[in-house]
Amino acid sequence: MTDPGQLTNVADYESLARTRMDPAAWDYQAGGSGDERSLADNLAAWARIRLRPRVLVDVTSRTTATAAFGTDLPHPIVVAPTAAHRLSHSEAELATARGAAAAGALYTVSTIASVPIEEVAGAAPDGPRWFQLYAPDDRGECRELVERAVAAGYGAVVLTVDLPLAGNRERDVRNRFVLDLGANLAPDQPTDETGLVMGPTLDWDDLAWLRSVCPIPLLAKGILRADDALRAVEAGCDGIWVSNHGGRQLDTAISGADALPEIAAAVADRALLIVDGGVRRGIDVLKGLALGAHLVAIGRPVLWGLAVDGAAGVQRVIEILRDELSLAMALTGCRTLAEITPDLVAETAA
Ligand SMILES: Cc1cc2nc3c(=O)[nH]c(=O)nc-3n(C[C@H](O)[C@H](O)[C@H](O)COP(=O)(O)O)c2cc1C
Repeated sequence: MTDPGQLTNVADYESLARTRMDPAAWDYQAGGSGDERSLADNLAAWARIRLRPRVLVDVTSRTTATAAFGTDLPHPIVVAPTAAHRLSHSEAELATARGAAAAGALYTVSTIASVPIEEVAGAAPDGPRWFQLYAPDDRGECRELVERAVAAGYGAVVLTVDLPLAGNRERDVRNRFVLDLGANLAPDQPTDETGLVMGPTLDWDDLAWLRSVCPIPLLAKGILRADDALRAVEAGCDGIWVSNHGGRQLDTAISGADALPEIAAAVADRALLIVDGGVRRGIDVLKGLALGAHLVAIGRPVLWGLAVDGAAGVQRVIEILRDELSLAMALTGCRTLAEITPDLVAETAA
């Protein structure tokens, strides 16, 4: 199957992307940390959840429309920040930005983008975009990154908080894979032996400081506990991104899907909630929304679309998930995202 027109689901893109990529780059993207238990569990967690569909609802007319911080979005599927898109395609994040914008998806651009964040913005000026921040130790540098993002029209800053040190990614160690830190960070950032940026000093004081200098909405990404989520909200975060970093940081860390209900109950409507990790079907998106997320993010699927077909592949992967979500809504009796309520999810024995 080499014709992108024949690819019907996200897994098809994964299979084809694998054949198009350098094996060490593939391992960097596909892999997790340690025994890759969180990586596997991210998929299993969505699969475990059973749905209780509502019937006899006229679902002829449905909408997946939503909004985030005042920006209207045609659907709740967000492109999660992933580093170094040049590994997947020569047009790197420029193609991702165009594909995401064409599919109406909010694109969270990584600090470790292969191209400057200003150029990513210029590739799809009208596309909604957020900036993911790996906070440099030096507050001056950190502030400069935030100012660049604001000047380039990024709508929010997403501070990643689950990477004090890089996870133990054994595929990369074996492959002697070294990540290129891309075009946005000063070259003197502390990294581990495979090139991953580290920020071991980052703490709640730094979050409070960042809040004080960040003039746009601020989210904390990589939160898995209700107490941390509440503390981040109290520190002024406008959003909480529930994530175990795609199974790449603490192995055996709880999945976003499993952490979400506790966090949604604690945070209630005080912050925007996003979940990611292992989302591969529109049904997973619907489950994330039912469990309390406002938006649901995808990491690797976008990279698979990018490797297969550049911007068009990114667009198609997102559209597949959007269409699957719309069908899942019809089959659960939901006409709007607001109707995707927690009672759609069955209580299951742990
Ligand atoms: C190759 C790769 C690179 C990533 N780079 C970043 C990054 O630069 N910043 C960040 O906050 N998260 C990063 N992540 C984590 C993603 O934002 C996201 O949490 C995760 O990929 C979601 O899981 P999924 O890939 O199963 O959809 C990365 C993930 C992958 C797979």
